[in-house]
Amino acid sequence: NNRVPMVAGNWKMNGDRSLVSQFSNELKTQQLSCTVVICPPSIYLPLFSNHDFSLGGQNVSHLDNGAHTGELSVAMLKDAGCSHVIVGHSERRESQHESSELVAKKAAQAIEQGLVPIVCVGEPLSVREQQTVEAFIGDQIKALTDLLSVEALKRCVIAYEPIWAIGTGKTATPQQAQEVHAFIRQTLNENAQGVGDSISLLYGGSVKADNAKELFSQPDVDGGLIGGASLKLEDFIAICQAAN
Ligand code: G3H
Repeated sequence: NNRVPMVAGNWKMNGDRSLVSQFSNELKTQQLSCTVVICPPSIYLPLFSNHDFSLGGQNVSHLDNGAHTGELSVAMLKDAGCSHVIVGHSERRESQHESSELVAKKAAQAIEQGLVPIVCVGEPLSVREQQTVEAFIGDQIKALTDLLSVEALKRCVIAYEPIWAIGTGKTATPQQAQEVHAFIRQTLNENAQGVGDSISLLYGGSVKADNAKELFSQPDVDGGLIGGASLKLEDFIAICQAAN
């Protein structure tokens, strides 16, 4: 395939000015063959300087502008140097009650206005225990294919993050990740004119320097969305190297 591997670091509500300086100065990506994206808290975006990696937001409004206190628009993220934005992270689906329909609207807004959305999907532990993972993920993907054109879908990145693996140290096995990634790709191929083959699918959930290589070597895993391990420069670099 000709999908470019990607490693995205989601700092979540962590980091400070000195971490921004450290990454700006020391994360050099020329020797890497993957796309590297750092998604810091949005207030820090304009502080990155002389960096050669991409920047992403952690969330964005589906609206253009107006009376929406606390929200950020796609135009603002672009203005602050972003090329990417995470949408539909499970932490926001849970704490902010973001529905799959709203997440699809955010992805559509990002694409229309020129950001690459990294759309997160993933099941809670109860769904895995009931063995209904495909139905659950299928519904999350359907909200996207219902709203977005094939052309728009081609510009999305999708991150599979099983909720039970996020921040828990319990990584999905490479086989578990591969199974769901293959299912997502097949679903997109069937429902959106073969678009699945061209989309990058990232795995997220307790990816560390020592398990990244095996996860990324699965045929349908094109890289990772990294939480905790994206806050330590050395670990993050090792994960990026594993995606080469
Ligand atoms: O967005 C990143 C994911 O939620 C993974 O977080 O690597 O800390 O498990 P984690």
